[in-house]
Amino acid sequence: MISIFSSNLNDVPEFLQNDPEFILVNSVEELYLYSYEGRLALMTPTIKEENLRPFFIDFIAPLKYHQKQNYSLKKEPLAKALGGKFQDRPLVWDITCGTGSDSLLLLSFGAKVVAFERNKIMWALLQDALERAQKDQELGHLFKERFTLIRGDPRDHVFDQRPLAVYYDPMYPEGNRKALPRKEMRIIREVVGDDPDFKETVTWAQGIPRSRFIIKRPIKAPDLDEKPGHIYQGKSTRYDVYFR
Ligand SMILES: C[S@@+](CC[C@H](N)C(=O)[O-])C[C@H]1O[C@@H](n2cnc3c(N)ncnc32)[C@H](O)[C@@H]1O
Repeated sequence: MISIFSSNLNDVPEFLQNDPEFILVNSVEELYLYSYEGRLALMTPTIKEENLRPFFIDFIAPLKYHQKQNYSLKKEPLAKALGGKFQDRPLVWDITCGTGSDSLLLLSFGAKVVAFERNKIMWALLQDALERAQKDQELGHLFKERFTLIRGDPRDHVFDQRPLAVYYDPMYPEGNRKALPRKEMRIIREVVGDDPDFKETVTWAQGIPRSRFIIKRPIKAPDLDEKPGHIYQGKSTRYDVYFR
């Protein structure tokens, strides 16, 4: 059961009000959701101890940022991993939506994105961000036309449309990092932990016929059992592509 701290049901987004997995509480717990200036926000021990800004997801500012960058789709590693052609709005499944930041990058390239998030807290924060984004005067139409958020794991769904690509950005076990990972990742880790079914997910995604499978990896990570068909390198990450 996921706690939402509030004494007032009206503060809770409508999409959560009748959801049996979320419960309204009136005492503060370790991890909970709450209403903050019209947004759904998250409280975790790290946010509390380090007195960080409330954590919520916003889709509009980061999408505007990407749009301003005017990326060259022939140079951006992720765009290249997708084949570099976006005029026909290729369908991409982002199966690890997280904070939505990679989904927004894919949208800014011109892709049609179906994003999956199975962690209920992350999903609720994303759904809240999506509902606000859909109301945005300038960009709302883009979210209505080209972005779908699905709660759960893609393996539990049946689809009649095959994606051009399946994009996977798993949680990696924490190594002996010297620097702390960026704030968002630390918070996601508190909520989600590791992805224990990494191998099963890779096998499933590699088995989808006629779709390419793109996995985001730390730049120095070893290859998976099967060597990728192509590797597109970024500054600190790389995209390994498996063609089917
Ligand atoms: C490393 S984060 C992804 C970060 C994301 N790319 C971003 O831009 O913020 C991994 C996220 O994917 C979710 N996840 C992992 N495996 C999944 C699966 N098989 N189906 C749906 N969600 C999954 C986790 O709950 C977690 O929120």
